[in-house]
Amino acid sequence: MPNTRDRWNSQVGFLFAAVGSAIGLGNIWRFSYMCHDNGGGAFLVPYFVALLAAGIPLMLLEYGFGHSRAGSAPLSFAKVGQKSEVLGWFMPVMVMFVIMLYYSVVIAWCLNYLVFSFDLSWGADTESFFYNNFLKLSEGPGQLGDVRLPILLSSLVVWFIIWIICFKKVSHGIERACKIFMPTLFLLTAVLVIWGLQLDGATEGLRYYLRPDWSRLKEWKVWNDAFGQMFFSLSLGFGIMIAYASYLPKRANIVGNAYLTSVINCGYSFFAGFAVFSVLGYMAQVSGVPIKDVVAGGPGLAFVVYPRAISLLPAFNSLFGVLFFLILVIAGISSGISIIEALGSAIQDKFSINRFRVITLLCVTGFLGSLLFCLQGGLYWLDILDHYSNNYGLVAAGFLECLIVGWAVKTHLLRKHINDSSTLKINRIWDFSIKVITPLILGSFLVGALYHEFAERYEGYAIKYLVIGAGWLLFLLAAAVFISRLPWRAGSLKREHSSRGGKLLT
Ligand code: TRP
Repeated sequence: MPNTRDRWNSQVGFLFAAVGSAIGLGNIWRFSYMCHDNGGGAFLVPYFVALLAAGIPLMLLEYGFGHSRAGSAPLSFAKVGQKSEVLGWFMPVMVMFVIMLYYSVVIAWCLNYLVFSFDLSWGADTESFFYNNFLKLSEGPGQLGDVRLPILLSSLVVWFIIWIICFKKVSHGIERACKIFMPTLFLLTAVLVIWGLQLDGATEGLRYYLRPDWSRLKEWKVWNDAFGQMFFSLSLGFGIMIAYASYLPKRANIVGNAYLTSVINCGYSFFAGFAVFSVLGYMAQVSGVPIKDVVAGGPGLAFVVYPRAISLLPAFNSLFGVLFFLILVIAGISSGISIIEALGSAIQDKFSINRFRVITLLCVTGFLGSLLFCLQGGLYWLDILDHYSNNYGLVAAGFLECLIVGWAVKTHLLRKHINDSSTLKINRIWDFSIKVITPLILGSFLVGALYHEFAERYEGYAIKYLVIGAGWLLFLLAAAVFISRLPWRAGSLKREHSSRGGKLLT
């Protein structure tokens, strides 16, 4: 059988898809409240450090690794050794069966809110609307309650769209979709930013967003949040960028693409913050309260504070609401499809199952798994699982990735591969960051997170729920170990190797 690995039609197509994965719900509301919670403009300092010390080095690693091994994360790691393969499975499996399950439901909320925007159905008390009328939130994680039909139905729509995009081969499905999604997203965001900046009180909002509180830089949490945000935002440790890079042609400009993806993603976050905060500034002014009293973090910002602001706008409120939630839906879906691709290509690499079946199976299980978050108690589980996947799962994945690629694979060989495919070059500083700097930083965050875990119960949840949350991640780890022991479909390990000119880099 000839090598049938799919290819991007163009470099731009790849870039759009990678940026599509990186830019997601995390850039719009998560970045804004992270900034606000962690010292405003001062947060940009640790954020920038995180970009240089972990974001860009790991992006280069994932691109270079996936490109040189021409494989999804498990296949690429399997070429290093069977033990490493476990990590290759753990990354996409965890993202698919933890993060994606609730992420798809948050996209579903946005879809509902997009429809609510037409008649501003959230009314005056947006907080009560969100928690009592929309989610009908239960008392705690132990009370799962009933399924919320509107959420379930829109979640079905979200999974259906994802399925439609993903079952075709990458160059027809994901690449085409992102080529439409990304320019649309940038355009709509620009409209929103310009619109927001015209409003009275916008400058006050921006001052609040960007005013640096340097004293906060002493805090461990601020740095931890900056690194956590960077990982989540750049889709690092997900196994996604490895799979995406495996579809690149030989001359792939890995260095340039890695810089561009990272800079566009972070620039977009910064830019979208202007839209969010100018509107909050306006709202503070109209309602005559200080801005710090109108801002809330977490889901509150997009689904409680923002709808209130939309209702208060002087004109075209519905249009503004539709734009805002449409931006979230587009950003969310272009990220969601990337994990289906990452895990789908992994399964295809390992077993002989055709693409259509794999993708259909993943979308159906994804939808079924997301039912948990369509329940009245879903939000609590979202919070608990998000805590474990972001603070441990992703950071541990990044840490191990650095150790495996830094020490088991020779970094200078991988660097040579990266440089050979690129116009811009990287030097030995990169090897040093992968071997030493990045793992040291990530390792210390892991230790710090563990320390906090035992010092205080996360958000005061009962131990049994936290154990279930952490246990689910451990279960997925066991599943990754199990899958890694299964045999590869005949010849896949060997043949893919020779598809890059037979160069063995380990
Ligand atoms: N980077 C995305 C963000 O900032 C998150 C993301 C990317 C994601 N791919 C994903 C989340 C797949 C869930 C599933 O929001």
